Amino acid sequence: MSHSLLQGKRGVIFGALDSQSIAWKVAEKAYEEGARFVLTNAPVALRMGQIQELATRCQAPLIGADATVDTDLENLFSQAVQELGGPLDFVLHSIGMSPNVRKGKAYTDLNYDFYHKTLDISAMSFHRTMRAAMATNALNRGASILALSYIAAQRVFPDYNDMADAKALLESIARSFGYHLGKSHGVRVNTISQSPTRTTAGSGVKGFDGFLDYAERMSPLGNASAESCADYCVVMFSDLTRMVTMQNLFHDGGFSFTGVSQEVLGL
Ligand SMILES: NC(=O)c1ccc[n+]([C@@H]2O[C@H](COP(=O)([O-])OP(=O)(O)OC[C@H]3O[C@@H](n4cnc5c(N)ncnc54)[C@H](O)[C@@H]3O)[C@@H](O)[C@H]2O)c1
Repeated sequence: MSHSLLQGKRGVIFGALDSQSIAWKVAEKAYEEGARFVLTNAPVALRMGQIQELATRCQAPLIGADATVDTDLENLFSQAVQELGGPLDFVLHSIGMSPNVRKGKAYTDLNYDFYHKTLDISAMSFHRTMRAAMATNALNRGASILALSYIAAQRVFPDYNDMADAKALLESIARSFGYHLGKSHGVRVNTISQSPTRTTAGSGVKGFDGFLDYAERMSPLGNASAESCADYCVVMFSDLTRMVTMQNLFHDGGFSFTGVSQEVLGL
């Protein structure tokens, strides 16, 4: 059911790869709620094809951009403003990738070139995104910018590897850039820390099924689905959350504040 929460709003959504992607669900909900937006992903992901189907369904222009390349991002924001007919009210950064995780490197024996890539793709790209949006005057006053994080930024989950460091940096960038964008443009910047979710990025983590099952048993409400994460993103893009900024918002069914559960203790 639509509440028209995003009626008349324009945005850019990064990171829809396939129908499992959290960004895919956000695009579907944002469209339902009346938003118009550009979909973007790395050129290699666009060639894989599935996102075109989503773009057609949501009547969304599709613009390729590698989120680690500043000129790609500037071109994306300039084109998005042109295609949508005005500055943006929301941006979703839903990007994560670790070559160390992909290659099965242990945290204590990282490949440092890969480590640079992890931090650039999964965290610095958020800084680059906001810088490019500012440089191209692409943001409306009161716009809402979100990135997706995970609780490994605060607690140790050994197999999450160098992505934990990337998420800690991502959350810090949200606070620091949030201060400056709040002052200069009245723009809010937040991260949503989501439950483990079965997607391409999520399933790449070693022992993911065990992770998912443990979180389900620890969380009083159970794991939050990608669909419910999309609902939360829509609320964060809407005018109902105008004064929320520089926060890391847990969307995890209560996992983050549960010490232990009866299910985990086997009671
Ligand atoms: N799945 C989970 O368990 C989970 C939990 C918490 C947070 N998150 C976060 O949610 C976000 C989305 O991940 P997802 O789970 O939907 O997986 P996903 O694999 O569907 O999405 C990751 C996206 O990042 C894109 N990407 C990678 N390199 C890029 C680059 N250089 N430029 C532009 N885009 C690039 C990929 O093409 C893909 O679309 C990530 O930040 C992830 O860390 C996921």
